[in-house]
Amino acid sequence: MSGLRRRKFDVLVIGAGGGGLRAALQLAQVEADVAVLSKVFPTRSHTVAAQGGINAALANALPDDWHWHMYDTVKGSDYLGDQDAIEYMCRAATHLVIELEHAGVPFSRQENGKIYQRPFGGQSQNFGGEQAARTCAAADRTGHAILHTLYQQNIQARTHFFDEYFAIDLISDDNGNTLGAVALEIATGEPIIIEARCTLLATGGAAQIFRTNTNARINTGDGMGMVLRTGMPLQDMEFFQFHPTGIAGKGMLITEGARGEGGYLVNKEGERFMERYAPSAKDLASRDVVSRAVATEVREGRGCGPQGDHVLLKLDHLGDAVVAKKLPGIRELARTFLHLDPVDTPIPVFPTAHYTMGGIPTNRDGQVVVPFAHGPEEPIPGLYAAGECACVSVHGANRLGGNSLLDIVVFGRAAANHIAGHLRQSRYHLPCNEESIERALSRLARWDQRRDGESVAQLRRELQQTMEHYCGVFRTEEVLAEGVERVLVLEQRLQNATLTDHSKIFNTARIEALELENMMEVAIATVCSALARNESRGAHSRVDFPERDDEQWLKHSLFFKQGRRLDYKPVRTKPLTVDSFPPKPRVY
Ligand code: FUM
Repeated sequence: MSGLRRRKFDVLVIGAGGGGLRAALQLAQVEADVAVLSKVFPTRSHTVAAQGGINAALANALPDDWHWHMYDTVKGSDYLGDQDAIEYMCRAATHLVIELEHAGVPFSRQENGKIYQRPFGGQSQNFGGEQAARTCAAADRTGHAILHTLYQQNIQARTHFFDEYFAIDLISDDNGNTLGAVALEIATGEPIIIEARCTLLATGGAAQIFRTNTNARINTGDGMGMVLRTGMPLQDMEFFQFHPTGIAGKGMLITEGARGEGGYLVNKEGERFMERYAPSAKDLASRDVVSRAVATEVREGRGCGPQGDHVLLKLDHLGDAVVAKKLPGIRELARTFLHLDPVDTPIPVFPTAHYTMGGIPTNRDGQVVVPFAHGPEEPIPGLYAAGECACVSVHGANRLGGNSLLDIVVFGRAAANHIAGHLRQSRYHLPCNEESIERALSRLARWDQRRDGESVAQLRRELQQTMEHYCGVFRTEEVLAEGVERVLVLEQRLQNATLTDHSKIFNTARIEALELENMMEVAIATVCSALARNESRGAHSRVDFPERDDEQWLKHSLFFKQGRRLDYKPVRTKPLTVDSFPPKPRVY
């Protein structure tokens, strides 16, 4: 292995979305030697696709307060979110959004020059009162604006970028310290060992495990797969968010901002059906509620179109000027993928897989922790996670729209602050563990050695179809059990799959194979965790257990790869400085 390329940094950040870049920037600004490794060019990371905005109780449009934001987030999470982490996030929000503004994010403006804020789902004034307007927006391209600004700032701060490198696995020693990662340069196929005193996973979510999804093709759960392979668990994986307004049959996101600007959903009778499901919030109820309502309309025969398989999102009453100014990206998407202009014609929509609420268990400092059912959590030395790949847990059983961009900047910064302290205390690199490097490289070698077998692309398709069919919006024990069986068969088949039957192996094919292994790990964690939770909470809707059961199930699940074991740990219901919000029936 002496011939392998090696580099050493203080900090390795894996993933160049908003969480990774926010952390890298903070560290580069305190003179740490930071490397960001990304499997795509950084500004193609999935943060770029976030549309509607970032939540902060700035009160620019309507009265607001971080404490109301906290209440909405706890309620939105169906009381599964940890209230200390939620308080921490909601309190930090206003400061961090202003900081983004100062860093150069081109937010849209109100008449008075303040940052434009729009209403989003699940938001209220005064603890469940009137609709709030808390989502700070740059038209409907907020993630794009934030990601580009953070990238430019990182270039200025001299962060080192490994563009188009794929992280294969973490390097760790026998004492459990994380020491960096083994990666592959995609262009050359050459492996590289990157040693680091701290490693931050910011690899995003995993909605590619579902056929219809809003996510970039890169969202394959790579960080989650890496963590499972080290023997650590994933938390709350049964909670997968289905966004109510994906383009029907295709999945691309039509922002909740469209409903925030006054759009609404209708069924084939032209009925504004959300009034029946959420009499007060209507189309701006939280996402799990709206997704179930849309799926129910279709199941009960009130869907639109020749197949009755979708509902319609009406924006045609908003007028050309509003759509052009506030929803230009949506108009472009509708024109490109549906050949229609939403100013004239409603958009066919259906729920689509969007966001991984579960993930790598972390504390508020972004440290990856080994959770114990009883007693304190123990951090893994040198390993951090932030953003969608992590579960801190601020989203619990259902994330509110606009809280994901907030999560990445709040916990990207929190992780960086803790890493800076760690770097001050432990000044040297620990010796690299060659066995761990060998193990990572053997993942690659296994694929390079196989010559016949099924195609990776076919297995990926089957996995996505299986997850969509057996682990969707509505679930039952019978369907989930069948889903588990089918995914485990696919996992077996993957052992014998091959990159290609041609003589030439492209590096992109190797990456797709490694990604599929990660997707498979995440899918198994998701469907097994869903089968085990016998209640309905947030996005996890069990037709056979329709009620939330706080007595038995107000707890986080932990899925371990070894033995496909599940364990549980308590929800932290005590906030940092304010009173708890005890569980109540959740109505909108
Ligand atoms: O609907 C949206 O614009 C998505 C926002 C989010 O997921 O936070």
